[in-house]
Amino acid sequence: MLTIGVDIGGTKVAAGVVDHDGQILDKVKYPTPSHDPDGLAEVVGRAVRELRERRPEREVGAVGVGVAGFVDEDRATVQVAVNLGLLDEPLKERVRRHVDLPVVVENDANAAAWAEARFGAGRGSDHIVCVTLGTGIGGGLVLGGALHRGRHGVAAEVGHYRMVPHGRRCACGNHGCWEQYASGRALVAEGQDLARTDPERGERMLKLADGLVERIEGEVITRAAMEGDPAALECFRIVGDWAGLGLADLAAILDPECFVLGGGVSDAGDILLDPVRASFARHVSGRPGRRLAEVRVAELGGEAGIVGAGDLARH
Ligand code: BGC
Ligand code: NA
Ligand code: ZN
Repeated sequence: MLTIGVDIGGTKVAAGVVDHDGQILDKVKYPTPSHDPDGLAEVVGRAVRELRERRPEREVGAVGVGVAGFVDEDRATVQVAVNLGLLDEPLKERVRRHVDLPVVVENDANAAAWAEARFGAGRGSDHIVCVTLGTGIGGGLVLGGALHRGRHGVAAEVGHYRMVPHGRRCACGNHGCWEQYASGRALVAEGQDLARTDPERGERMLKLADGLVERIEGEVITRAAMEGDPAALECFRIVGDWAGLGLADLAAILDPECFVLGGGVSDAGDILLDPVRASFARHVSGRPGRRLAEVRVAELGGEAGIVGAGDLARH
């Protein structure tokens, strides 16, 4: 049986036809309507329709929707999605109005973790913590081969773990959440801040951004860092350091076999991984006797959410 996996992120809705080996056979992408639950369900419906109409002979049996928010234990309602502007949203029911197939709703990072565990960097490991660094920070736990969802469905909402008491304000209403320090958005904030306060050091990033601080996005910082630009590397070092600190705390609680880092920021590969691993090793408890969890980069990259949502819809 084939399924369709849909990944609803802060900026785009990506959907694909997924087979039982986790391969994506066909894909579509639309911009995310924000603060508009009706529009969102409609876009999901349109994506599913388009994928089915392109190859009507393909038998699609179910639809899995991964969404960047707190999803309840019934896999139906989004309790809150701070970066999408959703509150107590019956997403499954709304999507069902546009799709005549069984629908499963799951947290985006849980879906990505499931995909990495089955088909990606976590293959063969039994205790995996997947951390997705994008607009926010998402988390997914695959423990003993099963997705750990908690009593109310929202285990592993690690992005809102309070890393800094009274720290930076978060869209969730709290202060000091991890995602304000180690996400893609945090990386961009570092880059823009550096270029604004020290344009000379930020010269390379500014050049790649047409001289405009507000055009310094994740891709610009990644490109500059890959060229060896010290300022961009410094941004990755700062964000990687915060990321490693968080992993050290997660290891204290969960003792995983490996961490898998996904999301846009992880496109930078070792430029991100090196400072994360160093920070993790420096901060983890039980040093030096303790056996360290491995820190790996995601293998399915931006497609993990689609693959995971599609695969969860099958199970
Ligand atoms: C949300 C999570 C989501 C993560 C990544 C966080 O802000 O609370 O539900 O998984 O961002 O998209
Ligand atoms: Na999660
Ligand atoms: Zn928060």
